[in-house]
Amino acid sequence: PKVTYVTPSGDEVVVNSDEPNLMQAAVTNQVEGILGDCGGVASCATCHVHIDPQWIDKVGPATDIEQGMLELEDNATDNSRLGCQVKLTPELDGLVVRVVGQ
Ligand code: FES
Repeated sequence: PKVTYVTPSGDEVVVNSDEPNLMQAAVTNQVEGILGDCGGVASCATCHVHIDPQWIDKVGPATDIEQGMLELEDNATDNSRLGCQVKLTPELDGLVVRVVGQ
């Protein structure tokens, strides 16, 4: 699916990716501010994004494990997700997320 990442610098990076999740798609395409240090096991939060409000229902809520990580983050909001835990399904084509950055 096509995903637009709004980077911490304010750039819009559009990616069309077959990667399994939001973190992988960003790392493969060298999107600024997404590192994926833990390899996608919800334990580093270097993939923290804010989901665009228009997409939050489709993306769905964070899991308990994610929520636990996000509670440690200064910039967490109700729309926060860990990118590695957001599976890229065809329904998410057109998704817009804001990269929180490190
Ligand atoms: Fe580490 Fe997502 S890559 S929490």
